[in-house]
Amino acid sequence: MLRAMRAALARACAVLSRLRPGASRGDAVEKTGGRLEGAPPAGVRGGSPVRLAAWVVAVLVSALVAEAQVVAPEKRRSGYADMSATTKAMQDDDTANPGMLSVLDGAAFWSAMPRRDANSCAGCHGDAKVSMKGVAARYPAFDERTASPITLEGRINRCRVERQGLGDLDYENVVLLALTALIAHQSRGQPIAEPDPRLAPFIETGRKLYERRQGQLNLACVHCHDQHAGQKLGGVVMPQGHPTGYPIYRLEWQAMGSLQRRLRNCLSGMRAENSPFGSTELVALETYLAWRARGMTIETPAVRP
Ligand code: HEC
Ligand code: HEC
Repeated sequence: MLRAMRAALARACAVLSRLRPGASRGDAVEKTGGRLEGAPPAGVRGGSPVRLAAWVVAVLVSALVAEAQVVAPEKRRSGYADMSATTKAMQDDDTANPGMLSVLDGAAFWSAMPRRDANSCAGCHGDAKVSMKGVAARYPAFDERTASPITLEGRINRCRVERQGLGDLDYENVVLLALTALIAHQSRGQPIAEPDPRLAPFIETGRKLYERRQGQLNLACVHCHDQHAGQKLGGVVMPQGHPTGYPIYRLEWQAMGSLQRRLRNCLSGMRAENSPFGSTELVALETYLAWRARGMTIETPAVRP
């Protein structure tokens, strides 16, 4: 046990020495200016290296003790429940929620004619409020054609390519984010559906990824989001990591972002090898997270710190 703790401390110090502003490590410091994004919590962001070290070591040490304990279904709580009153108020008031601007943009893209000879989304699907109601609640869905899960973003892109003759959009493209926000918003207040039984093997793959230690910190998602969820670290409560509000408006990003962007942030924070947007790994993680959050209420567009 002691040897393991010392090894953990050495690893944490090695990581910290690379975290100073200015240190450039490619993907690992993705758009963070050398700061650890995703982990640790806001309270220790940019805080002293000592507090950061204490946080990492605390997580590592307790992670050594307990393996893969998951939050019981009845104890699940949205990240919303852990937010400050101000951030909650911002999410609750549609006129103050910046995510609603993206939903409005999405409505404009939905009705816009992409070209004279191509139909708009509305041209085929009519009013999104009617045709897209409850759709996002069952994504990632089982795609018969590929016999694998397809994300909502992937499904929208398929219509763009096959029905409109347009190109694929990147996950973080504002048009795709807006269309995804518009569609997911039509499921606000609805429970995340029980998954299609054919998704079972992909949920299992996602679960293994979720429970697998990876990266220089040798942590798994489960260590932070199940074993340490709800604990206060540097003044911030660690969320359980549920995908209920996506796409979200994240204050730290000052922008909308997809669930996969959030997952990639956590993977960078773990100093793990990152998977590209749309990769089988990230889709499997999404599929597992949706299963883990089945029955929880969709909040799109959520606001997160
Ligand atoms: C070292 C701890 C840590 C690890 C490991 C970690 N995360 Fe996170 N994660 C966080 C923190 C902290 C936040 C919240 C950040 C914030 O609000 O500023 C977060 C946020 C999230 C959210 C957003 C929840 C919401 O309410 O919107 C999801 C989903 C998530 N993580 C999934 C994952 C997955 C999947 C993995 C494994 C690939 C993972 N995380 C690994 C610390 C971690
Ligand atoms: C030319 C007609 C056409 C256009 C244009 C079109 N779609 Fe579709 N879309 C379809 C058809 C057909 C389906 C498959 C319906 C089914 O599976 O029952 C579909 C399916 C979907 C689904 C999956 C629905 C579900 O229940 O799982 C989504 C989401 C979607 N389209 C979004 C869009 C968006 C966003 C646009 C505009 C960017 C768009 N579509 C443009 C014809 C179209």
